[in-house]
Amino acid sequence: MRAVVYTESGDSSVLELVEREPAEPGPGEVRVRIVRAGVNPTDWKFRAGGMGELAFPEIVPGQDGAGVVDAVGPEVTDLAVGDRVWTMLAQHQRPGGTAQEQVVIPADRVTVLPDAASYDLGASLGVPAVTAHRALTTSEDGPDRLAPGALSGMTVLVAGGAGAVGNAAIQLARWAGATVVSTVSSDEKGRLATAAGAHHVVNYRDGDAAAAIRDLAPDGVDLVVEVAPAQNLRLDVGVIKPRGTIAIYANNGGDEVTLSVRETFSTNARFQWVLLYTVGQEALRRAAEDITAAVADGGFGVGEEHGLPLHHHPLERTAEAHAAVEDGAIGKVLIDVGDH
Ligand SMILES: NC(=O)c1ccc[n+]([C@@H]2O[C@H](COP(=O)([O-])OP(=O)(O)OC[C@H]3O[C@@H](n4cnc5c(N)ncnc54)[C@H](OP(=O)(O)O)[C@@H]3O)[C@@H](O)[C@H]2O)c1
Repeated sequence: MRAVVYTESGDSSVLELVEREPAEPGPGEVRVRIVRAGVNPTDWKFRAGGMGELAFPEIVPGQDGAGVVDAVGPEVTDLAVGDRVWTMLAQHQRPGGTAQEQVVIPADRVTVLPDAASYDLGASLGVPAVTAHRALTTSEDGPDRLAPGALSGMTVLVAGGAGAVGNAAIQLARWAGATVVSTVSSDEKGRLATAAGAHHVVNYRDGDAAAAIRDLAPDGVDLVVEVAPAQNLRLDVGVIKPRGTIAIYANNGGDEVTLSVRETFSTNARFQWVLLYTVGQEALRRAAEDITAAVADGGFGVGEEHGLPLHHHPLERTAEAHAAVEDGAIGKVLIDVGDH
């Protein structure tokens, strides 16, 4: 089978297409024949060496993918050969990710894909949607599960709603009944955030974004899903409701923040830090179930009409796919790995 590997850190030129024997699933594992793989910033950050030394001598990148189960290991009871599935954290603490034709994954990181859902959609869920689910389910006065109505009466502010995680946060929050406000840097990104389901879009380059959000939500927002805290935390503190939650999942635009303690504790708000890799199996399971329910319900989609333009690259050009994500591609970058 064909696989893309790297054996040293570096720019996308370290990625190489090779032939490898498919592995056999062990206890609690399944093997998935990947049709589509999704690329996320974490894939190039790991490859570039930004997360420390390589943990394995040879790594196949890719946490996210969608395909068909083609072998089932011992002790797996809830998945069968032929199941269409989506994956999460396929490469977490493992050498083999989704940029290969057949990948062995722990069964608890594999979820059955609803019949009507495409492989493009399945491969776009993992990292972005699970991160968004976590950010939306940790607030003091809010739900720990998402379902229609779960966020009714709540206002959610999604920073950067044209990003992959931002898009997922808008779609899930809207499906769960929230009023959604999103910030963006351009009109084009505003159109995408609106297509994703945002009720209100604020161009943060255009005047006083905090005042614009206050106009839309005079009592403040219940939840913030934040990608760029170095730029936005003062704004977030300025618009959060008492006992609201500011969920921070990235350090885009800077790694350090300065806040006024008095101004911040006056909000009685929480900062919820979000990192997928240490969120724990129970949170991953809840996210997989709720995200799959949203997909089955027609509440989550991909493509321009859902605010997430798709960019396809063939497996042999995985380096281009990584470079596209690193360069800030708008939408979802996918790798065409195999046929269905
Ligand atoms: N903690 C975790 O577990 C976790 C999980 C997933 C992703 N991440 C991280 O999250 C980040 C985003 O991932 P992604 O896949 O969504 O990337 P992406 O699709 O490239 O989106 C990044 C978005 O950030 C927005 N942004 C940057 N500065 C902003 C600002 N000051 N205010 C509002 N929006 C701003 C950009 O939009 P504008 O042009 O509109 O500013 C862009 O749409 C990456 O750093 C990734 O590594 C972390």
